[in-house]
This record gives sequence, structure tokens and C-alpha cells, in this order.
Amino acid sequence: MRKKTVAGNWKMNTLIDEGAALAKDIVDIIHEVPSDVQIILAPPFTHLDRVGGIISGSPVALSAQNCADKDKGAYTGEVSAAMLASAGCRYVILGHSERREYYHETSATLNDKIALALANGLSPIFCVGERLEEREAGRHFDVVGNQIREVLFNLTEEQMEKVVVAYEPVWAIGTGKTATAEQAQEIHAFIRSTLAGKFGTLAEDITILYGGSCKPSNARELFACKDIDGGLIGGASLKAADFIAIAKSF
Ligand code: 13P
Repeated sequence: MRKKTVAGNWKMNTLIDEGAALAKDIVDIIHEVPSDVQIILAPPFTHLDRVGGIISGSPVALSAQNCADKDKGAYTGEVSAAMLASAGCRYVILGHSERREYYHETSATLNDKIALALANGLSPIFCVGERLEEREAGRHFDVVGNQIREVLFNLTEEQMEKVVVAYEPVWAIGTGKTATAEQAQEIHAFIRSTLAGKFGTLAEDITILYGGSCKPSNARELFACKDIDGGLIGGASLKAADFIAIAKSF
């Protein structure tokens, strides 16, 4: 079911003690957030066990930021979806633009990652979004449409039900430039209608998050849009008060 959701992607930030303190600060004020808002924290791998312990018993859910495209075995340095599930993760972010760009993740790899995440009971938070030059060339619908078709169209309805989509325009990530509510709503509606082309009415139930310089000052306007179900938050998720203020913006 479509759910109001705010997820914090900590990226490669905080040492374990700092992450633990941040998680504690969030849990301390989580009661301020209406109970129909799902809060997700995605700390680095090294923090999962510790943060998982801190949020256990609270309504906060744990997510990883990536998983391996292989099941198990001799893949030095990789972390499998099964390991994440055993660490208490319910979600895993996949296809973030930073992974696509710096680690050359392609739709082919992402197909394998999504299948493994789902097979291990994790809900993928699947990221899509265009680069600045693609938006300027008016190609954003093509780019985002292809990212969706190449991966999500391979799923069954039962699998798709478990997926959260995050639209993150690359030009808005960490830049302070947010998509306007109008720009974001336009492409969220496009994403939903693209999904409807394959999955029919199920598309109405898919949670679609906006990410890219989302902060307390702009979250309200973004979350008021019909097809924006919440946010995937980077920088502003590293301060408990800002993150919770965003979660209170519905
Ligand atoms: P910022 O909120 O720092 O722009 O990052 C967004 C993001 O990439 C979340 O995954």
C-alpha cells in the first residue's frame, strides 16, 4: 500500500558512535511524527547492527544503502541481501545515482540486486533520476522511463508491491537546488503512469519518494503534491531535528 514515508540516507557519513547518537536522538523525538508516517534510516553497513539495536521497539525501520548482485560466496568486499536481512534490515536502497555514476551500476546489475533483495524479504527503494544535461535537453522523461522499464518491468505484481520508488534528479542531490514542487509532481505523475502501463491499478498503491536537497523549508510544498508520497533525504537526515521536521511536513 502507498505509505507516507521519510527515509534518511546517511551515505558515507558518521562514525559508529556518531551514528548511534543520531539514531538515539531520532528515537527520542519520534513520538512527534504522526503514526501513519513510515520512518526509515539507512546508515552505512558498519552501523546497521548498532543502529538496529537502538531503533528496535520503535516505529523506525532499518535500511541498507546497497547490496551485492550475487547470492553468496567468493565476492570479497560485498554484502549480500541475506546478510542485510539477518542484520534486521527491512529495506535496501538500490540504484542510487551515486552508485550508478561512481560504481558503474547498470540496469543489468540492478535487476540482479532487486531480485536478490526481494528473495530475501527486503523492500528495495529503487532510485531513478536524470542528470542536469539530460533535463536541459528535455530528455528527463525518456531517461527516467527507461530506468523504470529496464528494471521494474521485469518484476511480477507480487514483487512490485514491495518496491518503493525514489525520484532523485541528479542535479538536485547535495547541490541545494531542489526541483520545484511542479517539476517534481510532473515527473512523479509520469512515473506512476509508466508503472500503470505495466502493472495497472497497482501503480496507485506504489510509494514514490522525492529526493534531492529536500529540507524542512521545502518538504511541506513537495509532500502536498498528489503523487509525492514522501522523501529520501540525504544531508538533512544527519540532523535529528531537521529529519523529524521533514517527517512532520505531510
Ligand atoms: P541530499 O538530500 O543531500 O540532496 O541527498 C539526496 C539523496 O541523494 C538521498 O538519497
